[in-house]
Amino acid sequence: MFIGLDLGTSGVRAVLVRPDGSVLESAEAGLQASHPYPGYSEQAPADWVAAARSALVSLAQRHPLAMERVEGLGLSGQMHGAVLLDETGAVIRPAILWNDSRSFVEAAALDAAEAVRNLSGNIVFPGFTAPKLAWLARHEPPSFARIAKVLLPKDYLAYWLTGDIGTEMSDAAGTAWLDVGARAWSDRLLEAGGMRRDQMPDLREGTGIVGPVRRDLAADLGLPGGVQVVAGGADNAAAACGVGALAEGDGFVSLGTSGVLLAARNGFYPDPASAVHTFCHAVPGRWYQMGVILAATDSLNWLARITGAEPATLTAELGALDAPGPMRFLPYLSGERTPHNDAAIRGAFLGLDIAQTRTDLTRAVVEGVSFALRDSLDALRATGADLPRLLAIGGGTRSRYWVELLATVLGLPLDLAQQGENGAALGAARLAICGVTGTDPEQVMTRPPIAETIDPRADLLEAYAQAHADFAASYPKLKAMP
Ligand code: XUL
Repeated sequence: MFIGLDLGTSGVRAVLVRPDGSVLESAEAGLQASHPYPGYSEQAPADWVAAARSALVSLAQRHPLAMERVEGLGLSGQMHGAVLLDETGAVIRPAILWNDSRSFVEAAALDAAEAVRNLSGNIVFPGFTAPKLAWLARHEPPSFARIAKVLLPKDYLAYWLTGDIGTEMSDAAGTAWLDVGARAWSDRLLEAGGMRRDQMPDLREGTGIVGPVRRDLAADLGLPGGVQVVAGGADNAAAACGVGALAEGDGFVSLGTSGVLLAARNGFYPDPASAVHTFCHAVPGRWYQMGVILAATDSLNWLARITGAEPATLTAELGALDAPGPMRFLPYLSGERTPHNDAAIRGAFLGLDIAQTRTDLTRAVVEGVSFALRDSLDALRATGADLPRLLAIGGGTRSRYWVELLATVLGLPLDLAQQGENGAALGAARLAICGVTGTDPEQVMTRPPIAETIDPRADLLEAYAQAHADFAASYPKLKAMP
């Protein structure tokens, strides 16, 4: 048996998986983030440990015999967060998370520094790790001075489980300290960020073995002695492993809190200027690229909150897909990454009319999010990524209207997987299987069975292409507003 353990922002998910990759059981434990000031987002690493323990113990209570047969545990997790350890290995301050934007000044400065984009392959976004450390150096010098090691969130769980201080390529790629093409820490990037090489954790590939779970802890968690922890991957890389997106042509679009359009790549083809993210994959010798929009279902959830209706009620009111509405929604509620790299921009409804209803607002919102994902597709294509079709995942895919709309806006068939586990936790378990058994990732990381393919609506392609052009032309106008 194998375990995948995914440290999300809103909770930890553990899956217990048979050697053939099928899932026996899953368990979750919730997490909160604290936002002490606008733009701040923090979590205590001790809360991650408590949630991970709770999810694992819950698996052990339900399947004690299967847990006794576990051979390996793989990790995945939220990217970019900064976990600071002092020289005794103690946590110095709460972790600063991926969705914390306090370091926008430091991010812009690092982004402008010579060779930074070239080596890291990316814009330095405020969410990345390096600017967080530059912020700490300026604003919390006593904490900064005590830093012996910086870990990424899921790697803190590896440290708890094994005592090892390390990371792997896919998470290291989101720090802006890694030479993403060479898959190695970069002295130039570390120097630009004011960090030292000895503060970096050891680097492995995602299928690399971290070490055995500590004996006393294994007994507490219902695991046998000698269970190997496998490094795993950053959440999006692990999700790609979960749906078998490893090679050119494979990709997915995710309608989650944030929206992601991801393409697996056989090589390193960065294009930072378009705000496409280019990161190492969790499997050796591969990379992936993605466009990230910050408010996908978050936009719909926002509309649900202010209208007092459930998101599913709002989308159910939409009926059947028809021509685009006259109103535009720009989904920049938390700023935007791809393609604008604009932390300051905020969203808008354009073209409100006295005749319009709640349904018109909902339609504008799901259209706006879909248009923003089209921008990401165009940015990915400009790097040479060829995506003939995509798997559609995430909570937003429960709306048939939205999936058909998105297929039409992207001009691509979208596959919907059969019900079942296919996220980052499964990807982490698959990385554990490869790490422990040495099986080739291509064999383990297969695509999920497809329940249905939703094709673009040929009769509406032109109308949505025009509406997208209108959407794209609105950003510069919004940006120009005082
Ligand atoms: C990726 C990113 C998010 C987090 C969310 O760059 O910031 O996908 O990993 O968990």
